Amino acid sequence: MSKPGEKVALITGGSSGVGLATAKKLSALGYAVVISGRDLTKLEEAKKAFPVSAIPPLLIPADVSEEHQVKHLVEETIAKFGKIDLVFAAAGVSMRAPFEDSKIDAIEHLMKVNFFGVLYLLHHALPFLKITRGSFVAMSSLTGRRGVPEYSIYGASKFALQGLLDSVRMEVDRDGVHIGVISTGFIGHLNRIYRYTFKAANLGRGW
Ligand SMILES: NC(=O)c1ccc[n+]([C@@H]2O[C@H](COP(=O)([O-])OP(=O)(O)OC[C@H]3O[C@@H](n4cnc5c(N)ncnc54)[C@H](OP(=O)(O)O)[C@@H]3O)[C@@H](O)[C@H]2O)c1
Repeated sequence: MSKPGEKVALITGGSSGVGLATAKKLSALGYAVVISGRDLTKLEEAKKAFPVSAIPPLLIPADVSEEHQVKHLVEETIAKFGKIDLVFAAAGVSMRAPFEDSKIDAIEHLMKVNFFGVLYLLHHALPFLKITRGSFVAMSSLTGRRGVPEYSIYGASKFALQGLLDSVRMEVDRDGVHIGVISTGFIGHLNRIYRYTFKAANLGRGW
């Protein structure tokens, strides 16, 4: 449990699903939370679900597939709170289709969101995480560990993510920065993800 506002978390995909569930839990624990997604109306709706006792989340719309928007997201967080302790990269899109039926523009879009969206965020947030000896955690999937029929594109985006973060983890270990990757199957219990994110962030474990 942190003193209110002592720790700052930036969460993409924070308007729904895993990102929102994690943001609410962190907020209840005293984190100042920034939630991001493309749609401001969805973010405003998500804000209503936060505990009334918590510091209200800061809403910053951004499309993670656009590098300049991710840069702005990090800069706005720093302008408001002066630091970042935890980044949770949960924004992502799913795709289930046989490879032969997959359209090139849909494949490129998915890679931009699921892979480059996380890469941009890591690139811009890392200098600030080195200052706080903070944590960067990204949502992957079991399809990022094993090939699964009809998940070739989605799985490839998560395999790429895993490779990126496994390498960077070793590079920044000496700086005290924790890099985590969450590889789940279908999520039926969002509290479990929160526990993994929070424990890993605090214990400095990669998994
Ligand atoms: N749900 C599962 O069973 C499962 C299993 C394994 C892994 N995962 C991974 O877990 C993560 C979250 O999944 P979820 O099911 O919780 O997702 P979700 O409920 O569909 O929410 C997706 C979030 O990402 C945001 N988003 C989508 N595209 C975006 C973009 N281009 N730029 C910025 N934000 C964007 C959405 O907001 P806007 O639409 O407003 O942008 C929303 O907040 C994803 O990375 C997913 O691949 C999920």
